[in-house]
Amino acid sequence: MPIEPKLWRLDGETTTLLLVQDHTVPRLVWFGDTLSSEVDLSQLQVHDDSALAFGSLDDVTPLSLFPQASTGYAGSPALNGHRNGHVFAHSLSTNNIRQADNTLYIDMIDEHAQIEVSLELSLHRQSDVASLKTTLRNVGNNAYTVDWLASASLPLPGNYHDCLTQHGRWGLENQTHRRHIAPGRIDISNLHGRTSHEHSPGLVCGTADFGNDNGDVTFAHLAWSGNFSIRVERLSNGNIALQTGVLYLPGECILQSGESLQTPATNVTRGSGMNACTQQFHCYARQAVLPAWTRTQRPIHANSWEALYFNHDSKELFELIDAAAGIGAERFVLDDGWFRHRRDDTSGLGDWFVDETIYPHGLNPIVNHVRQHGMQFGLWFEPEMVNPDSDLYRAHPDWALQVDHIQTPLARNQLVLDIAREDASDYLFERITTLVHEYDISYIKWDHNRDLVLPGDGTRARAAKQPEALYLLLARILDMCPGLEIETCSSGGARCDLGVLKHTGRVWTSDNIDPIERAGIQCGFQRFFPPEIMGAHVGHKKAHLTGRETSLHTRAVVALQGQYGFELDARKLDDQDIVTLKHYTELYKTHRHWLAEAVFWQLTTYSKALQASGNVDNHQQQALYSIVAISSMHSTRAGHLPLSGLDPDAIYTLELASLNKTELAAFNKVLPSWCEQTLRTRGELLMKIGVPLPVMPPQSALLIYCERQTTS
Ligand code: DGJ
Repeated sequence: MPIEPKLWRLDGETTTLLLVQDHTVPRLVWFGDTLSSEVDLSQLQVHDDSALAFGSLDDVTPLSLFPQASTGYAGSPALNGHRNGHVFAHSLSTNNIRQADNTLYIDMIDEHAQIEVSLELSLHRQSDVASLKTTLRNVGNNAYTVDWLASASLPLPGNYHDCLTQHGRWGLENQTHRRHIAPGRIDISNLHGRTSHEHSPGLVCGTADFGNDNGDVTFAHLAWSGNFSIRVERLSNGNIALQTGVLYLPGECILQSGESLQTPATNVTRGSGMNACTQQFHCYARQAVLPAWTRTQRPIHANSWEALYFNHDSKELFELIDAAAGIGAERFVLDDGWFRHRRDDTSGLGDWFVDETIYPHGLNPIVNHVRQHGMQFGLWFEPEMVNPDSDLYRAHPDWALQVDHIQTPLARNQLVLDIAREDASDYLFERITTLVHEYDISYIKWDHNRDLVLPGDGTRARAAKQPEALYLLLARILDMCPGLEIETCSSGGARCDLGVLKHTGRVWTSDNIDPIERAGIQCGFQRFFPPEIMGAHVGHKKAHLTGRETSLHTRAVVALQGQYGFELDARKLDDQDIVTLKHYTELYKTHRHWLAEAVFWQLTTYSKALQASGNVDNHQQQALYSIVAISSMHSTRAGHLPLSGLDPDAIYTLELASLNKTELAAFNKVLPSWCEQTLRTRGELLMKIGVPLPVMPPQSALLIYCERQTTS
């Protein structure tokens, strides 16, 4: 039966999304800049891509929002499933579309395959970020096995040429890789069981020339903390398809009669240049995802890990707390090592009781000491893990994810708990909430230090249940402990995605605190996530992960890019260090109120040796830009750096906000005049001619502060 074509439209601030239903499944006709006028179906007829090439199927198979092999689509279909080897194919057709506010609900059915699918597509007005998810229902009488169900399937513009993804390892997260979208499929598949260090669940696609401020760019991100696949596929008919979804292990996802499955959301936005998409993603995270407390002034953390590691000792801790308070910390976080049997990383995980041998009076003396300094108290947990050498494991060996007859390889001497089990989850809930209430804990650092290997219940895979169980546990704890803040940490930044960030509002970005490598890690982080949730600490002079020595200025400037804090033994700082550090701490305190809502700009430097970015307050009243020399420059001078985001018509003062003029002067016969005195100029000139930088030796960094003037 011919389909009566229908048109659907969603609008954001700068984006229009047009959907046409002229085949069995609707297709996206436009997702991009706002269309200024009304569009009707008769106009769209002109744009209908109905050309049919010889050598292809006899009918046009447009790339729909739910591509199916039954239409002849030979790319990655939206659904792969079967009933014990039967019903391997399906032919879903739309039976209802409705629009409520800025959301479209598309219902499809295949009566023969006995499955129903609903797509939900909404456009967040303020940020122009679209959100898509898919629900599949088994309306048959027997089980339906899902091998793959896409969260989103979208066409990308045919002139897209490059794809940028982020990868890494422990201590080196978010490294950028850019490749050509050649014929065939790019498939970023993550099987680490957590969001992972190795693959970030986001990508950037765009025209060949795309950069920070140019080119046509689309960002996509899957809000999920487990196994996933993100695909970009160039088909022989010229179409480019983007697809995202949860990656299931064999037999992991079987829907019994009447059961349904909902995918996590995929977020997508399009803009001119990466900065535009980054800003849209930041706005979306702030307004639609992150917990409300992330909108309040973020306290300065001091974390005990790199100062003490497992050497918990009350006397040392008292001294450390005094020293941290002395440099301006506002929250003291007691890291790994406080609970029973945890003298090193071989034992104790799971035994979430304060260790009476080190803390005979519980944590009270420590907590009271922290409070006497006016600081908040935070505590480290790694709830999803267990050491075989622990009371918990001895009592419940069956709580660990495992496969019968195969030894699970240990990582950091630990196994993963099956937290989708009610008893395991209840135990964690009871332990964590009891401690939070007992010590009035304001913040938890929630760690997760290994990949999931053999994630089974003995015989069946359970990897995809784990993130869902995590979200439920987090929500339950937060319900019971209103006001509690939770940070997501996973050996640094291995669990950072918009799924977990609904419940957690701070990320421990990386265990690598070497500012030179950290600058690159943070640059990748900020491409998708806003700076104010990016844990960024001033570390020791000699970085523990790389052995590199850097100046305190460089460490502080890089820490000021995010939620500033300390990961060092403050007792070892000399008087001069303390004066220096206090300057940066005060800078953070002065500016953090507007930084939390600032507009982020990655700046384009002409030398690969320089990395620069800035935050401009959303009324363009002030801005802070940081420039980091990650290596030696080939030229003798750094040249001009054009700034971004200022009001071109406004007059701004420009000053060197980092305290390292003397340090830089040693490498400059003459410093640019703005480094010597506060100067004023127009926003337009700062953005077009740019700021002449001083000669910056490798491993130096500087901070520029611009403030709008009311009189010219
Ligand atoms: C890994 C984290 O990333 C570190 O910051 C620290 O908390 C350790 N775990 C503790 O075991």
